[in-house]
Amino acid sequence: PRKIIIDTDPGQDDAAALMLALGSPEEVEVLGITTVAGNVPLALTTKNARIVCEFANRPDVKIYAGSDRPLKRKPVSAEHVHGATGLNGPELFEPTMPLQPEHGVDFIIDTLRREPAGTVTLCTLGPLTNVAAALIKAPDIGPRIKEIVIMGGGYFEAGNITPAAEFNIYVDPEAADMVFQSGIRLVLITLDLTHKVLTLKHRVEKIRALGTRPAVALAEMLDFFERFDIEKYGSDGGPLHDPTTIAYLIKPELFAGRECNVEIETSSELTLGATVIDWWKVTNRPTNALVLKDVDAQGFFDLLTERVARL
Ligand code: BDR
Ligand code: CA
Repeated sequence: PRKIIIDTDPGQDDAAALMLALGSPEEVEVLGITTVAGNVPLALTTKNARIVCEFANRPDVKIYAGSDRPLKRKPVSAEHVHGATGLNGPELFEPTMPLQPEHGVDFIIDTLRREPAGTVTLCTLGPLTNVAAALIKAPDIGPRIKEIVIMGGGYFEAGNITPAAEFNIYVDPEAADMVFQSGIRLVLITLDLTHKVLTLKHRVEKIRALGTRPAVALAEMLDFFERFDIEKYGSDGGPLHDPTTIAYLIKPELFAGRECNVEIETSSELTLGATVIDWWKVTNRPTNALVLKDVDAQGFFDLLTERVARL
């Protein structure tokens, strides 16, 4: 299996990503989960990561609390989508599994220094603060990272927190900028792709019908999560952003995109956090990311359902 660190701000769609990864031990080995302030403050994203692992019957997973604020800016959160807890939907509980004492940023650094170079992949499901902080503190880890699979940004569907920016990039644009300039191999899963991965009724019902505790909890999370898009946009379901990163590692054949240059806007007030993707190669700027835009959405949900069933 591929060794991965999941950096996350749960979030119902983050929860789906964690469950997909933990249900797929043949393809991915979760070395640890690091949490970051994003959808809700760090104390809650960290608690939620523990709750999700307990729902998934995996209290043995190592969870590390990371950065509680962006590199240079004030935190921005998304309770309007995820609810006050960040994980609204199922009946939540006080988790009892341990939180590791090490800081998430140090865990990322130590793991990359310990494991053979080129063997550890990072999956980022929230603002890129922890990854950037690790690169600042330990620049030697950059070349040791196999790949970073990032949920963030967009080209045709540019923004969901401002007209120009996607939430994960917008919250910490300086961190994103550092990552996109790092020379590390990047895969970017954009809103263009995740807006095709909708929690349609029959898909959520199939998960609920598994009848297990993790499956029912996930279905209840998705019931809450999709309300935002259904009520605001009249869409047929919510876009299930984050688990697509894990699905890409398990079944890359479900995805399509192209190598592009991606730059992050960090100064304009109007377009702060925009991912400027040179999709049409109108510049000579070197490519720095595989930008994924298309997906077999039903194939993705079949995979998610199959793997949640294994938890
Ligand atoms: C991203 O923002 C968060 O609200 C979601 O969890 C996802 O990571 C989508 O823009
Ligand atoms: Ca997220």
